Amino acid sequence: MDSRPIGVYDSGFGGLSVWRELCRLLPHESIIYLGDGKNCPYGGRSREQITSFAMEAMERLVEEGVKMVVVGCNTATTAAIQALRSRWEDMPIVGLEPAVKPACLTTKRGRIAVLATAHSLQSDMFLSTTARYAEGVEVIKIVGEGFVDIVERGEEHSAKAYEAVRRVVEPLLSRGVDKIVLGCTHYPFLRELIERVVAGHGIDVIDSGEAVARRVKWLLSRYNIAADEDNRVEYRFISFADEGYRANLERRAKEILLNR
Ligand code: DGL
Repeated sequence: MDSRPIGVYDSGFGGLSVWRELCRLLPHESIIYLGDGKNCPYGGRSREQITSFAMEAMERLVEEGVKMVVVGCNTATTAAIQALRSRWEDMPIVGLEPAVKPACLTTKRGRIAVLATAHSLQSDMFLSTTARYAEGVEVIKIVGEGFVDIVERGEEHSAKAYEAVRRVVEPLLSRGVDKIVLGCTHYPFLRELIERVVAGHGIDVIDSGEAVARRVKWLLSRYNIAADEDNRVEYRFISFADEGYRANLERRAKEILLNR
């Protein structure tokens, strides 16, 4: 059995929403989390820039000796997953995609909203997923303006955060959607606020964290690289930003574990 860690990568803190689900479903696995931090946010950047950040991140995780990589960032997935997979052919690499499929399969009103970064919403990957699953379903695309910065600054519980969420989400109430898909891994940290704004309107808020963790579990078994049950689990945090940022990642991750 394989005690090497799983690598998780995001532009910053967002991938911790995926990390949390991995810890929950795979308690015997060690994980190295790389939160770029230096180049965050990615959402408004070009595909080339994001690809080069993702390549650097992947190199770093490979140097750290990971057995699998989870690109815990929708934006980096849309920009770079193909490039990563063709350069590291033997490494299992899992990407993040918004849960458009389950939302389209379960919508009763035939109208869903996807909240994501501008880059993700304009990407070919998003357009082709939507074309595949959204036949007969209207998909409203909305950028969570300011959401990433709020999460990066750890201000999810502030009045300012509620105001930013209300500004983006409230207009959806009159559009008749019954599903809101969180297509950016930072956004689940604002889920409570989003749910507060839509309360009483019969709207489900969906993210991809759990589904990705299940996919990782399946791949660990398929490649026969799962850790033993007596593995000494280690959670490490690294960053391209300064030590303060790195230490914050670790602190927030610990809080997440305590609040489970
Ligand atoms: N967490 C990221 C995502 O899932 C990107 C946020 C950003 O850096 O703009 O899309």
